[in-house]
Amino acid sequence: MKGIVLAGGSGSRLHPITLAVSKQLLPVSDKPMIYYPLSVLMLANITEILLISTREDLPQFRRLLGDGAHLGLRIDYREQPEPRGLAEAFIIGAEHIGDDKVALVLGDNIFHGPAFSDVLAKNADPDGCVLFGYPVKDPERFGVAEIDDEGRIVSIEEKPPHPRSNRAITGLYFYDNEVVDIAKNLRPSTRGELEITDVNRAYLERGQAKLVDLGRGFAWLDTGTPESLLLAGQYVQTLEARQGVRIACVEEVALRMGFIDSEACYRLGAGLMKSDYGRYVMSIAGEQPASTSHRWPAPFSHQ
Ligand code: DAU
Repeated sequence: MKGIVLAGGSGSRLHPITLAVSKQLLPVSDKPMIYYPLSVLMLANITEILLISTREDLPQFRRLLGDGAHLGLRIDYREQPEPRGLAEAFIIGAEHIGDDKVALVLGDNIFHGPAFSDVLAKNADPDGCVLFGYPVKDPERFGVAEIDDEGRIVSIEEKPPHPRSNRAITGLYFYDNEVVDIAKNLRPSTRGELEITDVNRAYLERGQAKLVDLGRGFAWLDTGTPESLLLAGQYVQTLEARQGVRIACVEEVALRMGFIDSEACYRLGAGLMKSDYGRYVMSIAGEQPASTSHRWPAPFSHQ
């Protein structure tokens, strides 16, 4: 499967913080926001990733992530000139997707929960689409899925004023290759965007939309306002301080997934050794046995 991180938009709800810097590069505790969605794709065993952002912000993403080779990835970059909707990612990314399936993750979505890598692995070869649902108290702010007694999706609506359920559809989507044609045939919505919800509805009409419930033991964090951004950082900081492990440390994920070896990981840490983050990466590299396992060892299965 190929991967796309969509990290454009103007971040206007965070102005003036985002007047001069991309929202998806803001810190969430000890690392840039983009590390969180990037690590989700990596945990899904995806190594070929397209990062889409604005012309102004792309150079900073390149500076941060380069071509991805240091993490055992291939990261390419494309511009989205205007925020014309999430579904435009599949048109901009058509060449990158080629004949493959694709995972889209929004650059401002943070996921953390038990056995997430297993959930991702189980769903990483979709026929149709796989959506990830999460119970929220304010579903009217999101795409919302209505489910019948057997867990099948009955309806999908974008920001409905009167939601039929409390299940938000999160910003992580797995699709088969049909998604490119579906996106190309979409019409802009009344707000002038190519809506991801219309893509998901097209799959629903074909009987090919599956919802995976992330459930209440899971954290899907909001970063949309200054307050929620701070709370997300506090959540990460609390867990990291208590457990001594890091959430969404991309060097660690690359090592655990077998994308890089322990020497390479150590070197990446050494390059950042003046920070706690860098020293953590060095210590993780030291722990790893010579033959890197593809399995996530038990103490780290909670990414
Ligand atoms: O976060 C999950 C929600 O994301 C879903 O529940 C909704 O169904 C989906 O429409 C989307 O809702 P948002 O209101 O969060 O979408 P927003 O326009 O804020 O865009 C989400 C992120 O994607 C944001 O960081 C900016 C970026 N973006 C957005 C658009 C419209 C782009 O990079 N390009 C775009 O064209």
